[in-house]
Amino acid sequence: MLIAKPPDIPSSEITSRDAYFRYLNRRRFLKGAAAVGAAAMGADRLARLVSPRTTVHADPTKLQTVYSPLTTTGEQLTTFDDITHYNNFYEFGVDKSDPAKNAGGLPTRPWTVKVEGKVAKPLTFSIDDLLKLHPLEDRVYRHRCVEAWSMVIPWVGYSLSEFIKQCNPLPSANYVQFLSYYDRHVEKWGGAETSIVWPYSEGLRMDEAMNPLTLLTFGLYGETLPNQDGAPVRIVLPWKYGFKSAKSIVTVRFIDKQPPTTWNEQAPNEYGFYSNVNPDVDHPRWSQKTERRIGLPFYAQRRTTLMFNGYTDQVASMYTGMNLRKYF
Ligand code: MTE
Repeated sequence: MLIAKPPDIPSSEITSRDAYFRYLNRRRFLKGAAAVGAAAMGADRLARLVSPRTTVHADPTKLQTVYSPLTTTGEQLTTFDDITHYNNFYEFGVDKSDPAKNAGGLPTRPWTVKVEGKVAKPLTFSIDDLLKLHPLEDRVYRHRCVEAWSMVIPWVGYSLSEFIKQCNPLPSANYVQFLSYYDRHVEKWGGAETSIVWPYSEGLRMDEAMNPLTLLTFGLYGETLPNQDGAPVRIVLPWKYGFKSAKSIVTVRFIDKQPPTTWNEQAPNEYGFYSNVNPDVDHPRWSQKTERRIGLPFYAQRRTTLMFNGYTDQVASMYTGMNLRKYF
């Protein structure tokens, strides 16, 4: 984002990625054989054995998930260690390693998500309500940050549309706004290091929010989200730059007009409302044509950025006729 820092992570080992692919493949196979539960148990134990768990702030509760045929990228997964130690979560500091150090204070239970604005009636969901609302799915997504680095992450969640249906939005609800957790401790945790006006705010057009790829996310690698990755609930939009994926959500607001969003307010010429991954539209201060895949050996990191981060088939029709240079 505004502060660019050199990478501060060690090059990673790949054992956990292999293990997780075996896990997903085995689940796919066993799902057909109606034995998902048995697969989950063995694989979760395996993933735990091979993943280092230093400075991970999470109650590592296993989540009962099913494999989602909606997504997989066929690429090497980023390790759990990299996913949890190279983070942007400015409430906990500006350095990529800060959230892993500072996010322990985030009180993730009890947790409620308020639904307000243009809905039939305001609602409140506890995190347990949300976990039970729809079967949890394993979905492997590419994760592309506007800073031109990327990862491949096995998230756990379900389509945000399943949640939105329960909210009964009114026909005038054209947009959805997401507000992240904020209290006075945020300044102490690291939030004072930026000029961001808290709480962190993000927004989507209703059709984007309803797109099946948009994931209401509760976990990764089959377990609850670590705090530094946005516990206990965040959204993930794989075809947009990472900053659209708001973490630790406490309010979902349905509105008629485009909502203000944190990075767009910080620097409107650098961060648009749409922020679709687009190699043809450079950031004013750097190219978006290529990206650096975190955790790979130096010589293998650089890769071509794909339009819509490789999700054109699923999302391009939402932007037909729009000038994507203007609406970046
Ligand atoms: N959500 C909140 N509340 N605060 C943040 O600073 N950073 C965003 C996004 N969501 C951010 C946030 C940015 S810039 C990115 S790239 C992704 O979270 C990073 O997610 P990750 O740390 O799980 O990779």
